[in-house]
Amino acid sequence: MSTHNVWTHKGTFLLAAVGSAVGLGNLWRFPYLAGENGGGAFFLVYALTIFSVGIPILIAEIMLGRSSRRSPIMGMRFLARTHTASRAWESIGWLGAVSAFVILSFYSVIAGWAIHYTGLMLTGSLQQADATSIGASFEALLATPELLLLYHTLFIAASALIVGLGIHRGIENGLRLLMPSLCVILLVVLAYSASLGDLGAAADFLLTFNLGELSLEGWLAAMGQSFFTLSLGMGAIMAYGAYMPGETSLTRTAITIAVLDTAVAVIAGLAIFALVFGAGLDPGEGPGLMFVTLPLAFAEMPGGALLGGIFFILVLGAAISSAISMIEPVAAYLVERFDLPRPQAVAAMVIASWALGLLTVMSFNLWADDSLFHRLFDRSAFDVLELLTNILMPLGGLLIALFAGWALTHGEVLKEMHTNERWFRIWRFLVRFVAPTAVAFVFLHTIPQVEG
Ligand code: PFF
Ligand code: NA
Repeated sequence: MSTHNVWTHKGTFLLAAVGSAVGLGNLWRFPYLAGENGGGAFFLVYALTIFSVGIPILIAEIMLGRSSRRSPIMGMRFLARTHTASRAWESIGWLGAVSAFVILSFYSVIAGWAIHYTGLMLTGSLQQADATSIGASFEALLATPELLLLYHTLFIAASALIVGLGIHRGIENGLRLLMPSLCVILLVVLAYSASLGDLGAAADFLLTFNLGELSLEGWLAAMGQSFFTLSLGMGAIMAYGAYMPGETSLTRTAITIAVLDTAVAVIAGLAIFALVFGAGLDPGEGPGLMFVTLPLAFAEMPGGALLGGIFFILVLGAAISSAISMIEPVAAYLVERFDLPRPQAVAAMVIASWALGLLTVMSFNLWADDSLFHRLFDRSAFDVLELLTNILMPLGGLLIALFAGWALTHGEVLKEMHTNERWFRIWRFLVRFVAPTAVAFVFLHTIPQVEG
């Protein structure tokens, strides 16, 4: 393994990890989940989980990748070889691979919607349209499985192409341009939605922390989202960490990732809710929230068609840089373990995930109201996959925390962490006790939900 790749630049890990973290989770999933779960209380639980559980696990996950210098499955096997229950720890890698398939399968379908909206924007189709007709056009998209399938296929193929070509040139340079542009456009959108909509109401909604209002489902969704948004617990960050140069600071890097990711989610949330309240829309609208509110702002802005087009292209870029990080750990495993050529490894992963994505495609139309999933779990296939994500990612994170906190020795950790004793102790307390307690709390309440 001495030939294992290392990123070409010192800052690339950060760039790649931020590329993985910032994506549909921030722009699409965070606002709609916050909207469905009452706003501020959701945000509070989400933010607390990110800082007390997410960052420590993020540090642990990067550490495992960097010290093994292998893909997650092989890396866990390597790190666990001298520990008791080594087989059980190895399951961390496998669990991550399963999560990657599941998440990519629906992520790609949703990213496909952004392809559609890029087209609608650039052709000016929604200019001057009102809330009702924009809502209707979204409904029409969902009602057309052929179209969803086409976009899903395009998106997943584009992501596969990039990973297949190797991650260095394309991603490194692409992200350096993409992330700052996304930030700027997001701020422009925020300014416009503040002037068209009601920023005060949006801030109230998102920043009034009334914990009493949060249902158990809301707690679960908020904690699940904090794992999702940081790409935690599934090997994506571990796989990138394997290419990270040894001297970079884990703690500082992890905090930077979390802060940037949270900032993007908050800006997107404020922009969207300002419009929601300004136009009298419903914040609990669900997965369509971003695709109905933002086009509304673009419809009324001078130059909105172009700006909207650019915005959705950036959404696509952010989504692709996340999708890549779901493909990479599985593809790297297939290459390492079976000596598959990289393109074949990527194809195998992506084709399986593409097929699973058909469930999500149909859950918005043919299977919207009735399906095997409704009969078994009382919810649509898409909702089942999302719920599964909310279980798999925290579970992976839990195991990573336990492994890093209890199985790795003091020496093994300090070798990677190069930190002082005090930070080390804080970190270890968080991964040993706080993270496991938090995740256990989620499971105690989620498992009954799945059965019922
Ligand atoms: N963190 C990404 C987002 O917020 O959009 C989603 C994600 C990427 C989840 C990579 C998991 C993953 F491995
Ligand atoms: Na994110």
